[in-house]
Amino acid sequence: MSVLTRFSLILALTIAASTPAEALSCRELLLPLFERAARHFKGQEFAWIDANGKAVRLVTGDPLGNGMSGAVLKLENFTGDLPEGYPRDALVVKVPLAFRLPGIGTFAFPHSKVFQRGEARLESRLREQVAKVESSEFFPKDPAWEKGVLPAPPILSVLDTPYGKWIVKPVIRGTSLTRLVDKSGVAGLTPEMKRSLHELYDLTQALFDQATAFGKSALSTGGTRVHAFKLDLNPSNLVWVTEPDQMRMYGLKRPSFMLFELGEHPSDPYLRENMNFQEFLSFVDQWVQREAAAGY
Ligand SMILES: Nc1ncnc2c1ncn2[C@@H]1O[C@H](COP(=O)(O)OP(=O)(O)O)[C@@H](O)[C@H]1O
Ligand SMILES: [Mg+2]
Repeated sequence: MSVLTRFSLILALTIAASTPAEALSCRELLLPLFERAARHFKGQEFAWIDANGKAVRLVTGDPLGNGMSGAVLKLENFTGDLPEGYPRDALVVKVPLAFRLPGIGTFAFPHSKVFQRGEARLESRLREQVAKVESSEFFPKDPAWEKGVLPAPPILSVLDTPYGKWIVKPVIRGTSLTRLVDKSGVAGLTPEMKRSLHELYDLTQALFDQATAFGKSALSTGGTRVHAFKLDLNPSNLVWVTEPDQMRMYGLKRPSFMLFELGEHPSDPYLRENMNFQEFLSFVDQWVQREAAAGY
């Protein structure tokens, strides 16, 4: 691991591992900077190789959003293989955050490349462990999603690019939790929305109880470690899904919040010993107020 990669990773982990309030301040500082990142890749045609070695072409559309680890764009004219049941005209591609040096080129942030690689590997590992997770005493009773399902869009394809791994997923059509809470706070959510949030909170505990993730320590070049999985339940990862065809595609029995990503939090703010469900709801309020004040 290069010095730059290690520095960038340590920075990202320090931000994420600080207290929720400190993490929020860092987000406010860095998100506007990272917002530019998605625009570097917007509206271009690319030709690359997928994880099975097949050449594919694609066109990147408008940016849909970004977090601390990646940027998400609409994906058009994708020629790569897709599993059945996922329409080609409703795809997104998640790319690493990048910066441009005028006259020299566009470069992906090293921490972002590491996170993209991690997301691609983590996804299949978690889906393999669903039955175990469902057996946890913390798993929600009769959740909105079918047995064997996790409420997040599947990764449909992973592309090898000079900017790291690009991840193809289906679009989620819904209303983000932050938009829903914007006007009247968490108090304005319907009982079915609150129930759904509780189900995702319980899922977070069940994942920690039963699922393991496998990763390299960010601070050492060698060695791997297996650890209990800590879902990143931050409010900007949640979206309320109600359209019948979306519910069918994602295996939902009733309207539900879904996660945009099955991301891991390097620390443990959403575990029950640190935050009970009521505290989680207050945290959502606080998060949305701060984001609104910061203007995004
Ligand atoms: N499948 C999707 N469909 C529609 N919008 C998406 C999708 N995935 C992500 N987004 C948008 O992009 C934002 C960042 O995506 P996310 O995967 O959470 O990135 P990060 O890992 O950086 O937090 C989300 O908050 C959402 O607004
Ligand atoms: Mg996110």
